[in-house]
Amino acid sequence: MEDQVILETQNLRKEFGGLIAVSDVNIQVKASALHSIIGPNGAGKTTLFNLLSGNLKPTSGRVFFQGKDITDLPAHQTVHLGIGRSFQITNIFPNLTVFENIRLAAQAVGNDNFKFWQHYRHFQRYEDRAEQVIMQIGLQEQAHLLAQMLPHGDKRKLELGIILACDPKLLLLDEPTAGMAREEIPLLMNTINQIREQGDRTIMLVEHKMDLVMNVSDWITVMHQGQILAEGTPSEIAANEIVQAAYLGEFYGDFSEVK
Ligand SMILES: Nc1ncnc2c1ncn2[C@@H]1O[C@H](COP(=O)(O)OP(=O)(O)OP(=O)(O)O)[C@@H](O)[C@H]1O
Ligand SMILES: [Mg+2]
Repeated sequence: MEDQVILETQNLRKEFGGLIAVSDVNIQVKASALHSIIGPNGAGKTTLFNLLSGNLKPTSGRVFFQGKDITDLPAHQTVHLGIGRSFQITNIFPNLTVFENIRLAAQAVGNDNFKFWQHYRHFQRYEDRAEQVIMQIGLQEQAHLLAQMLPHGDKRKLELGIILACDPKLLLLDEPTAGMAREEIPLLMNTINQIREQGDRTIMLVEHKMDLVMNVSDWITVMHQGQILAEGTPSEIAANEIVQAAYLGEFYGDFSEVK
C-alpha cells in the first residue's frame, strides 16, 4: 500500500514551437509521499504540472492517475478526480471573504452547484469543511476579511486552503512560498508538513528554497532542460555529484547547511 504509485507519466512531452519544455519524462509518484520537483528556471517544472493537471495538452506521452489514463482530461475534470492545482492567486475572489472563497471551492467540487432548490442545510457540510480548512491553514482570525485585504503571505495560505477545500488526493504546489516574507514561511511549511503527515494525500512540490525542499521531501526529482537529471531521497540528491556539477552549486549555492 505504501509503495503504491498514484501518478505516473509515460514519455510525457511538451513542445512550444521549437522549444522542448518537457522532454519525454517518465515519472512515478508514490501515494502519500511528498515528492518535490526541483531544477533551475526554465527546467520545465511548471509545464510538467500543467500537463498533470490538464491545463496543457501534451505534444505526446501519457499521464495516469490512480491507474486511469487522464491525458486528455481538462483541468475542470482532473479536479473532480482529486488533483488540486495551485494557480498562483488568480482563482481567489478578491471581493469575497476568506471563508466564502474556501466554501465556494468546497462547493464547486461537491457536484451540486446550481441546485438552488436544495434546502440550505444541505450546504452546511460545505460550511463545516470551510471551517476545518481555515483552522488547518491558520486563517481563523482573517476568516471574515475580504480576500483582497490579505497581505501576500496570507493570500498564499488562502490559495492552499482553496486547494484543500476541494479535498484532493494529489496536491500540485508550485512555489507556494514565492513572495512570502521569510518569517511567514515556517507556518505554511508546517501546514504542508501536517497534510503530509496525515498520510491520506500526496503532495508534489515545486520549490526553489533548497532548505525547505531538503527538510520536507520524501523524494526529489531534479529536472534540467525538460529532462529528469536525477531522482532520490534528499540526502541522495544533496550528495549527487552530477546534480551538484550540473547546476545545484551554480544555481542554489552550496549544500553545506543541508542536514
Ligand atoms: N506557454 C508557453 N509558451 C511558450 N513557451 C513556454 C510556455 N510556457 C513555458 N514556456 C517555456 O518552456 C520552458 C519551461 O518553462 P517552465 O515555466 O515550465 O519552467 P520552470 O521550471 O517552471 O521555471 P521557473 O523555475 O522559472 O518557474 C521555458 O523555456 C519557458 O520559457
Ligand atoms: Mg515555474
